[in-house]
Amino acid sequence: MKLADNKATMSFSDGSPSLEMPIYQGNVGPDVVDIRKLYGQTGMFTYDPGFMSTAACQSAITYIDGDKGELLYRGYPIEQLATNCDYMETCHLLLHGELPNAQGKKDFSELVTRHTMVNEQMQFFLRGFRRDAHPMAIMTGLVGALSAFYHDSTDITNPQHREIAAIRLIAKMPTLVAMAYKYTVGQPYMYPKNDLSYAGNFLHMMFATPCEEYVVNPVLERALDRIFILHADHEQNASTSTVRLCGSSGTNPFAAIAAGVACLWGPAHGGANEAALNMLGDIQKQGGIEKIGDFIKQVKDKNSGVKLMGFGHRVYKNYDPRAKLMQETCKEVLKEMGLENDPMFKLAMALEKIALEDDYFVSRKLYPNVDFYSGIVQRAIGIPVPLFTAVFALARTVGWIAQLNEMIGDPEYKIGRPRQLFTGSAARDVMPIVKR
Ligand code: CMC
Repeated sequence: MKLADNKATMSFSDGSPSLEMPIYQGNVGPDVVDIRKLYGQTGMFTYDPGFMSTAACQSAITYIDGDKGELLYRGYPIEQLATNCDYMETCHLLLHGELPNAQGKKDFSELVTRHTMVNEQMQFFLRGFRRDAHPMAIMTGLVGALSAFYHDSTDITNPQHREIAAIRLIAKMPTLVAMAYKYTVGQPYMYPKNDLSYAGNFLHMMFATPCEEYVVNPVLERALDRIFILHADHEQNASTSTVRLCGSSGTNPFAAIAAGVACLWGPAHGGANEAALNMLGDIQKQGGIEKIGDFIKQVKDKNSGVKLMGFGHRVYKNYDPRAKLMQETCKEVLKEMGLENDPMFKLAMALEKIALEDDYFVSRKLYPNVDFYSGIVQRAIGIPVPLFTAVFALARTVGWIAQLNEMIGDPEYKIGRPRQLFTGSAARDVMPIVKR
């Protein structure tokens, strides 16, 4: 961390001595005021629910400029990665800091490929779930259960364990997601096929059956690979912060990632892709494009509790760059599948246009986020709606594990332990039950 020349001074109107605090500069983006000594010197905490102004860590992985609508993985713009690289290269970049050369990519892909199978016992664990269980419920359980299967990579303080746990998680997530799907439709699990690409193998495990040969469609393979790249990491979002906080206690990597999966499920976060498609489906049922006006009215009515899902972001106050790329992919996939006139896509485009012209959305700087179009792409590929967030989890695993490993290697890392402003009862005596 680079110390800035200037310092911050906090003064108090009751005459208590003021406090000088160091300021650190990042390479780009806002500086941070170091408040670590605040409590020791003043007996006060800072108060920042939702972390509106709090940098919880230092990180060199992902940078977002919310005003510009810019997203960089290790300095590389998301547009360039999505156009020139594949997911395996992106994983290498996020985990190791650099894009691989041709040999490095081959070695890394082979390493991941060799870990795609899961312990055979895993299928018996799956059997304990109801067939109609939500895939994210299954994924939370399966990922947590990995720590019961891979005892030799659970020591978070051991760099080799961290490295192998990272590869295992990246490699096994597609297998687990596909197993969760096959289980809910009652089809046999398909073993991974190691001559396929990462995305191609996922398509195979999802849609092949033992009865006939499955040929991977290269347009869908590339589209899925792009979905994976766009979701690979996103700085200190809710699920990543959950993984960091969970991992800060020294728990094993599989348990920490399971916590991330659980957090991602929520509709304000990764669950928004499923919620956005369901929303489009509801508008469609009510009459489609003609009903957008009524729907927008509901969204603007604070008492309705209705939100325009796939819109808005804590950090982006300009178009989410991932949404632009996703819209492009959406067009390609719909064309490939002969769905150019897909009514859901038309509805989404019309909804976006109307929302972007409406003062409610303009004044609040609400733009489409990655989840607005990702559901339409996934649905066109044939992925069922309840599985959308599990696909997001699969793709985000590399980001979670890269951030977790970065934290463990950070000399400033401590167990995460926020404090509170207590508003409950002060100490009081328990009355005997007859007197209460
Ligand atoms: N529809 C209608 N109003 C909205 C929306 C929306 N989607 N998003 C924000 N607002 C309003 C909000 O009601 C508030 O209005 P006011 O100032 O009058 O009270 C204002 O915009 C600011 O919103 P906020 O809730 O304070 O913003 P936040 O940073 O706390 O929340 C968010 C960000 C993403 C949770 C929120 O925009 C949202 O719920 N969006 C819909 C869900 C969604 O698409 N989530 C995916 C996010 S991107 C992928 C990911 O992170 O996983």
